[in-house]
Amino acid sequence: MSDTTQSTRPIRSVGILTSGGDAPGMNAVIRAVVRAGTYHGFRMLGIRRGFHGLLRGEMEELHNRSVSETLQRGGTFLQTARSKEFQEIEGVRKGVEMARVFNLDALVIIGGDGSFRGARELAREGLPVIGIPGTIDNDIGCTDYTIGYDTAMNTAMEAIDKLRDTASSHERCSVIELMGRNAGYIALNVGIACGAEVVLIPEVPSDFDRDVVKTLLEARNRGKKHYIVIVAEGKGNAVEFAEKIQKMTGIEARPTILGHLQRGGSPTVRDRTMASFMGARAIECLAEGRLNRIIVYRTGRLDDVDIEVALEQTKTIDAYQVEYARILSL
Ligand code: F6P
Repeated sequence: MSDTTQSTRPIRSVGILTSGGDAPGMNAVIRAVVRAGTYHGFRMLGIRRGFHGLLRGEMEELHNRSVSETLQRGGTFLQTARSKEFQEIEGVRKGVEMARVFNLDALVIIGGDGSFRGARELAREGLPVIGIPGTIDNDIGCTDYTIGYDTAMNTAMEAIDKLRDTASSHERCSVIELMGRNAGYIALNVGIACGAEVVLIPEVPSDFDRDVVKTLLEARNRGKKHYIVIVAEGKGNAVEFAEKIQKMTGIEARPTILGHLQRGGSPTVRDRTMASFMGARAIECLAEGRLNRIIVYRTGRLDDVDIEVALEQTKTIDAYQVEYARILSL
């Protein structure tokens, strides 16, 4: 494979798009990329509706004033989409062609794993890219942090604190389903922050009788009067879990699915600052001719990694955290 990590021609025009599920802080990334890009003398173009919009040439020039008042807003003002067409190589080639039509020399792509796979294909076809991790799930192997994660966790924590008030008043079990298709990072950390008696995540095998029924009944026998059970979306359905819990334990149980509430809202300080520094770093990479990189945050430092290497990396749930989530709720 040829070396795709060095610039072959100077970068003058940079496109930016958001892709996949939206996440709080995406607007803050766009703002940082546009303003850092303008500072470095790049012409900046915003692409609407992710790869879908790239294929249709839905783009417009963005200036410093175009991103005023966006820092504190949830969602993404560029909109986002999941493009089926882009999953085929013909779609990717059309994307590269469309970038040429608009004189784009490079793309900054904010999204999750799936979006980065699309970005890697663009890079392989000769269009330089920089990826910035943006997903509430925090499930991207190459980085410890993804934009939107902190806001989503705070939203979930605040909701569960409220559910605890009513569970405590009625001596009930509140069963809450949190987002995370294949990943339990939100569920585990919110579980620790809310002192949940049970946290069920896809990465950790569980047995309903032992890990739910027995845990809740033992908690009751130790004097607990209300209970919080958190289920990651990828592990099952809160309604079914609540029914089974009530049937097996005799404890009244109520389900709540937080769903897309976790994807909205004004980003937290952590998401705004991470978004700002990741956006700036993306532009620095382009200015220095370091192409086809993913911006990452690892062991407390911002860095950038070759996209081919980054997509090989995997992440695992910390067994120590799983253990202490249980111990601290006893
Ligand atoms: O990847 C982020 C995420 O919110 C997942 O946690 C969830 O499974 C998925 O997106 C839902 O996506 P949508 O409802 O937008 O199709």
